[in-house]
Amino acid sequence: MTSTLNRVIVRPVAGHIGADISNVDISRPLDDEAVKSITEALHRYKVIFFRGQRLDHASQIAFGRQFGELTYAHPHDDTPPENFPEIYTVDPKRYEKKYGADFGVASRRRRYSYFTGWHTDVTAAVNPPAGSILRAEVVPEIGGDTQWTNLVAAYEGLSEPVRAFVDTLRAEHRYGGGYEISRSSSYAKVVEDNLLVAIHPVVRVHPVTGEKGLFVNPGFTSHIVDVSARESRAILDLLYAELTRPEYTVRLRWEAGTVAFWDNRATAHLAPADIEHLDLRRTLHRVTITGERPVGPDGRESELVSGQEFGANHKVVVDD
Ligand SMILES: [Fe+2]
Repeated sequence: MTSTLNRVIVRPVAGHIGADISNVDISRPLDDEAVKSITEALHRYKVIFFRGQRLDHASQIAFGRQFGELTYAHPHDDTPPENFPEIYTVDPKRYEKKYGADFGVASRRRRYSYFTGWHTDVTAAVNPPAGSILRAEVVPEIGGDTQWTNLVAAYEGLSEPVRAFVDTLRAEHRYGGGYEISRSSSYAKVVEDNLLVAIHPVVRVHPVTGEKGLFVNPGFTSHIVDVSARESRAILDLLYAELTRPEYTVRLRWEAGTVAFWDNRATAHLAPADIEHLDLRRTLHRVTITGERPVGPDGRESELVSGQEFGANHKVVVDD
């Protein structure tokens, strides 16, 4: 199964998703062939892993820019690292410092269902990022793994009548769509002041591969539009049960220097929840590639309900 594409080596790691990429130093500028090989591997395997890389903020940004324009850090993060507005630092301790010690635990308790750690990045935006690149700086010796699932495989695994049915649906996505943000929290205020809401097709046609994939996720999808609340819940539960099936997933054990690059148009991922009771450090840094408005099987684009397109010039409103 190992194939050599010029110098870049691509080794698939699971049956439906994921490949290890080796023989390339991504901290340096890539030649066109390497960019092409990595792009093809990304679209084919949906998430690709690089090990033992030595990236800092600047070289992570430079790596990302070879695959598209980068967004601002995050729709609600007003404190990216100085001089690196594209870097979003994933570190629970950072949020606890800012929004209170129980921020993480409290938000997890408010989850509607056990599916709710699964999400696709920033789908509350009308143009969710096309890709995300996450690098590990500090990771614990135990736990903290991330899992990804292949939303194209999950769609293709549905029976033909169900595929035909879900092809016709659209859904609202918003921050807090899959869990409840405490209305009194200062984080809720930032979310509200920067409200992003969009209606996306439930099935998205990938703009590069033409593949159809599910495009709902437990983190952001609030409901299926034009159906009853009860019907919406039942449809979403069915789709979430499918897209979280273990056979469509791959799980990554991080080490410092590991970089994961995923196609955010064809995957969802699960942030780890197995170390929150342990006092362990885990710091990762993300950049995201600006995406386009999704298109459904009927050719209809996503619609913006609230906010703006998510790109490089995003500004966070903070009104204390
Ligand atoms: Fe994420």
